[in-house]
Amino acid sequence: MFSLVWVLQLNQDPSADVSLRAFWGPQQATLLALRFPTVRKQVDAELALAAAEIEAKMVPSGPNIPRHIVLPAQGRTPEWILAEMDRMDAAMSHTNYRDGKLSGAVYHGGQDMEDVIMAAMKRYLVSNPLHPAVFPTVRKMEAEVVAMCLKLYNHPDGAGATTSGGTESILMAVKTHRDWARAVKGITEPEMIVPESGHAAFDKAGAYLKIKVHTIEVDPVTRKVNLKRVARAINANTIMLVGSSVNFPDGCMDDIPALGALAKRHNIGLHVDSCLGSFIVPFMEKAGFPIQPFDFRVEGVTSISCDTHKYGFAPKGSSIIMYRTAELRKYQYYVYPNWPGGVYASPSMAGSRPGSIIAGTWAALHYIGEEGYIESCRSIVDCARQIETAIRDEIPELYVLGEPAASVVAFGSRGTVDVLEVGDMMSKRGWHLNGLTKPAAVHIACTRLTVPVRTQFIADLKESVREAKEKPSGKGDMVALYGLGTSSAVGPEMVTQLVTGFLDNLYKA
Ligand SMILES: Cc1ncc(COP(=O)(O)O)c(C=O)c1O
Repeated sequence: MFSLVWVLQLNQDPSADVSLRAFWGPQQATLLALRFPTVRKQVDAELALAAAEIEAKMVPSGPNIPRHIVLPAQGRTPEWILAEMDRMDAAMSHTNYRDGKLSGAVYHGGQDMEDVIMAAMKRYLVSNPLHPAVFPTVRKMEAEVVAMCLKLYNHPDGAGATTSGGTESILMAVKTHRDWARAVKGITEPEMIVPESGHAAFDKAGAYLKIKVHTIEVDPVTRKVNLKRVARAINANTIMLVGSSVNFPDGCMDDIPALGALAKRHNIGLHVDSCLGSFIVPFMEKAGFPIQPFDFRVEGVTSISCDTHKYGFAPKGSSIIMYRTAELRKYQYYVYPNWPGGVYASPSMAGSRPGSIIAGTWAALHYIGEEGYIESCRSIVDCARQIETAIRDEIPELYVLGEPAASVVAFGSRGTVDVLEVGDMMSKRGWHLNGLTKPAAVHIACTRLTVPVRTQFIADLKESVREAKEKPSGKGDMVALYGLGTSSAVGPEMVTQLVTGFLDNLYKA
């Protein structure tokens, strides 16, 4: 999920007098230690060193790295521009995503798909759905993409909109329920109830939109949100509940029918986050995998987010937010009738939007079609199930978290090996997996690119477990980042400092 993992290598020389590791002790001792200015200084020095290392990895410099920080006096030729991109690509090391050793991130990766999407996007490159009169075909394609998704989630009479991605879809769903609850129920101090396995975008929405978030634990075995706790957290200010279909950390699905019943009883919203389930979960039954109800057929579900840019294979920047009624969708809109610049109205966060992405999405959906999505669902879920079975049956050191519902498999340690160390050993073998906390675990989100390399994944995982047991280095990125974040009371503060530096680095030219 978070690409800091590949750049972070803390200075953990065990022979050094003071390293961050020295502060990974029990919470009290750590906090006490940090009160002493000298210790604080040493920690800060360590963090500065780590930050410098991150920057060196993320922002390569030197005579071989071309830099362009001033607008050229005259325009360049198309040949120069492409050649310069070649030069920059060559000067920096890259992950070859086409080899499939990647969790999620690139969901299709086929050249045929890229060609179709490129042709469609090129055709509508300059279009902007903010001006439907100028680009009527783009408006039509956008409405059609939304209609197709509503049908897929079994509610053709519902309403929806396109957004730039899962996070925006979630932000919109939360804003819509907030404004609905204020208008209809008079709630001015809104609260929402989110499983701890829910996506961070809900916390982001809480922070942006000033909504109190109740985070509810999941059952340690099933990994589904604890329903009793959800019920107990509902109060007069609750605007909505959240369930995932499927969640990001371990790919499990919450009990959507039970959450729907609670939402209905209390007349509050229920958002189903199917950003990751996207174009996998609606095809599970037809692909031969029984699945519990998760869509608008469940009473009480008021909104669903579905990322076309994940298993829909659309270009990045494409997601759909759907509502049970057009009436509810109205609370998503922004209208400013008295703006001096004219009457202003927009359906979602952005004003101007890239019509090319809508065209690329429309093209992807048509190119793959129902049969194609059923087939891709079958092969991807089959791949995930093979990995799951191999871990359960052939790797006694590891266990699988919950019952993975679709494409994601997460594994933790039974105690004889550090699973984050295993993740680092997998990195050494070229895999880019995701590290998790609560509990420490590693996951892979299978895609079309994973299918051909699943046997290699299983073999590499066995080798990595063996090596992590026999020769743990304790120096890998996952161990450093997640170990630091969870091992002490100040861990999260330190990680926040490092990650803020990481974000600054994104804009260093
Ligand atoms: C379950 C879930 N919800 C929401 C999101 C956010 O999507 P995006 O990164 O497109 O904003 C993700 C991303 O992985 C996800 O897995």
